[in-house]
Amino acid sequence: MPHNITVVGAGYVGLTTAACFSKMGHKVVCVDKDEKKIKLLKKGKSPIYEPGLEELVKEGLRKGSLVFTTEMEKGVKNSTVIFIAVGTPPKENGEADLSSVEDVARNIGYHMKEYKLIVEKSTVPVRTYQWIRRIIQMYNKYNAPFDIACNPEFLREGSAVKDFLHPDRVIIGVESEKAKKLLLEIYEPLHAKVLVTNLSSAELIKHASNAFLAMKISFINAVSVICEKAGADVLEVAEGIGLDRRIGREFLNPGVGFGGFCFPKDLSAFMHISKELGYDFKLLQEVLNINEGQKLRFVKKIKETLWNLNGKTIGILGLSFKPNTDDMRFAPSIDIIYYLKNEGAKIKVYDPQAMEKAKRIDALKDVKFCKNPYEVAKGSDCIAIVTEWEEFKNLDLTKIKKLMRVPVIIDGRNIYEPEKMKKMGFFYKGIGR
Ligand code: UDX
Repeated sequence: MPHNITVVGAGYVGLTTAACFSKMGHKVVCVDKDEKKIKLLKKGKSPIYEPGLEELVKEGLRKGSLVFTTEMEKGVKNSTVIFIAVGTPPKENGEADLSSVEDVARNIGYHMKEYKLIVEKSTVPVRTYQWIRRIIQMYNKYNAPFDIACNPEFLREGSAVKDFLHPDRVIIGVESEKAKKLLLEIYEPLHAKVLVTNLSSAELIKHASNAFLAMKISFINAVSVICEKAGADVLEVAEGIGLDRRIGREFLNPGVGFGGFCFPKDLSAFMHISKELGYDFKLLQEVLNINEGQKLRFVKKIKETLWNLNGKTIGILGLSFKPNTDDMRFAPSIDIIYYLKNEGAKIKVYDPQAMEKAKRIDALKDVKFCKNPYEVAKGSDCIAIVTEWEEFKNLDLTKIKKLMRVPVIIDGRNIYEPEKMKKMGFFYKGIGR
């Protein structure tokens, strides 16, 4: 059954949610206070690079099922169900900054005149719903009835639309039958597996899922260190353990460490709320430690191959924290480049999508942005693969070798076969093999 839905926030999660709900047949208002962003969206342009998203925005605008506005009042008036999908960035101490969530809750309370279901979509620490409820109660000028629900989003950047429309599961945390019925109706078109829980469980499921996935990555990264020392191949090991259905092969790819706006921030926020609740979740601190170590080990690998880095030119292929996105937030490339520059290396970079965003990052101001991987290779003493873009898997390596000053490739994502690279005459090192 089509519903009138408002989504507050037009970031990765909010915009994808709004566009996908409109695709699913609902009438959606998407509110964001950023006027520039809304202006762009009204013209059918997506402010972020995400496969399929702009097409859905255009389709929604054309059909009239997707409207963008900066006016919160309009958003509240229009819909019975309001999703909060604003940012929850980390504070200095790792705690989630929930001031945008509070702002939205206050605005909803202030403008609502009849029943509303307010749904947490952003990743928030467990028990946030209690604060949202309290704030709405405080500002509920017209004394309108309302429910709170939690419906965490598990989409990945780069495949956000696909993940949203074909989820492994939909989690619905509710405390009333009415809220449950509304959310089940909204998600009905997806025919997905739905799990209905209480509000705290739903909030916790999101933090626990991200922490578990990050732990899997740090685990295999730690194993990769042992593999190198023992002469094992981490990809064989990952396959071997991944064949156990209790473990699974996914998220066991070693690399230069995880980045992005979710894992690092959600781990810190989860550790912080755990402490507040009286439990020191040390395991998660170690997950972060291994992740930081992975970037340093990568730089060390370059140093061990080239000896002194001072004055040498290192070419970086890939800047975004993973392929198919232009997102540079918490990208390992930033730290890796910082460490290399500290050693006196000159840096050339290329990324298929993230260069515009990378140019705005202070730490990357003095690097040379190149038009393609071959320009990066020209005169370089080493190429470091930091993001596994498809484009890099199909490079003309003979040409690359000719262009480089010395044919050294340090592959932080294991996109090449060591034997083949050695045969071609490269000094080649991958991760854990
Ligand atoms: C993640 C979760 O997957 C998603 O469910 C949640 O909603 C948001 O956070 P995202 O940050 O978009 O999604 O990317 P993801 O594909 O999970 O990758 C995160 C990081 O882990 C990337 O830096 C990636 O390179 C790294 N990674 C992932 C590995 O190093 N190895 C792997 O095996 C998998």
